[in-house]
Amino acid sequence: MNNKTLDFSNEEFSQILEQVSSMVLAKYEHLDDIKGFNVSSQEEVESWFDEPLPRIGQNSFSLLDEVKTKVFDSATGNLGKNMYAYVMSGGNQISTVAELLLSTVNQNNTKWHLAPAMTEIEKRVIKWAAEMIDYTPEAGGAMVSGGSEANLAGLTIARNIFFKKFDIKRNGLFGLKPFMVYCSKETHNCTDKSLSLLGIGTNQLRHIDTNADLTINTEALEKQIETDIASGLMPFCVIGNAGTVNTGAIDDLNTLADIAQKYKMWFHIDGAYGGLGASLPSLKQKYAGLERADSVALDFHKWLYQPFEIGCVLVKSWNIMRDTYYKEADYLATELQENINARLEFNEHYFQLSRNAKAFKVWMSVKAYGFNRIQEMIQKDIDLTNYLIKLVSESNDFELKSKADLAVACFRYKGDLTDNEAITVLNQRLIPALEADGRVFITSTKLNGEFVLRACIINHRKTEKSIEYLLDTIRDVASKL
Ligand SMILES: Cc1ncc(COP(=O)(O)O)c(C=O)c1O
Repeated sequence: MNNKTLDFSNEEFSQILEQVSSMVLAKYEHLDDIKGFNVSSQEEVESWFDEPLPRIGQNSFSLLDEVKTKVFDSATGNLGKNMYAYVMSGGNQISTVAELLLSTVNQNNTKWHLAPAMTEIEKRVIKWAAEMIDYTPEAGGAMVSGGSEANLAGLTIARNIFFKKFDIKRNGLFGLKPFMVYCSKETHNCTDKSLSLLGIGTNQLRHIDTNADLTINTEALEKQIETDIASGLMPFCVIGNAGTVNTGAIDDLNTLADIAQKYKMWFHIDGAYGGLGASLPSLKQKYAGLERADSVALDFHKWLYQPFEIGCVLVKSWNIMRDTYYKEADYLATELQENINARLEFNEHYFQLSRNAKAFKVWMSVKAYGFNRIQEMIQKDIDLTNYLIKLVSESNDFELKSKADLAVACFRYKGDLTDNEAITVLNQRLIPALEADGRVFITSTKLNGEFVLRACIINHRKTEKSIEYLLDTIRDVASKL
């Protein structure tokens, strides 16, 4: 019999951990030098990994050296101060530690007896998340991979609970007439993707026009609902944005809740980008109505500064989760266990069977930093965004294109150009030029069809100096075009 395992001796493992720890510390020692983007070409990166299946193991220390040069040094600078693209929050140190500890104990958060402490931690984090945004303390939910999955989960729950009387879990959608979903034109595309997956289809998704501030036009929404009802279609769900991806626009959630109530619809909120902003007293009023949502999608790898991945779906009760997801199986039965009713089984309340204990890093972060300090960081991100907006507005060579309450600003570099088309072309050329330069990483979007640069400032490490560096670098790269 072969008695080997994959384990190292304790001494060797300890040396490996020491080297890992030095690599991690070195990243923080050189935080200010972390560029936005670090590699030159796809071909080059592909070539680093072009090797046949390794049949014989490599020395772990040389493997770590390889990881340092090929992975650590080339990593896109999400950790540092020069990342403005998409929504990259930079992670935090306690969560780095948490992920190491988590994979060490390797708990499976699917059945209480497979992960007793981690299950209770996930339940607690769901309670805390509800408290952060002033949602019901009775909330049920689950940790998921991110905002897209949180929205997919919210809409899955919406479909299964709303159509429970048709026993949709067994019958599927066959025989039902089309039912309609409503959201603003600024809503994230994971909504469209979710409806495709759910068999509802994007033809049933109405993208409603927005107001000048890019929030949903609720009059246009109601008009569309009335038109659809008159055509024999069934209104099913309205989706509100608690912060759009493009500009952080927060829809009028109270009016959306009223409309959902009036037409007996499910009310889902996409709070992936901005949901946690509801925790700030200064913004509380903007989120009025969030507490009335039937389901809320949150994303902790955004404004809770967690490393990828972790999102969260919240609904009004655990029963709603169970009604949506429960399916009995002989191999999962727990009725022989004592005290069974007190145990919450995540596999009965979410789709996944095996699942890691994502909530652990949130639990450790919130305990280590305290939520007040995290709120301070959220406020700092918003203040820095206002600083960027001020610099752009006061300059002669930039023009501001969006103003919102959260931490994202859209603008264009115009230099001394005045022709609109020429300014668009300049900004379109700037995006790849900035990526090639690498000092800062910023991406673009379109607002009402107009091409703009979009800077997202969800990152607790940024300072006023980083913002000034962003604008100076854009100027410098533009001068070389
Ligand atoms: C408003 C909104 N919804 C959903 C998502 C998707 O989240 P994720 O990238 O975590 O899947 C994002 C991502 O930026 C977002 O801003």
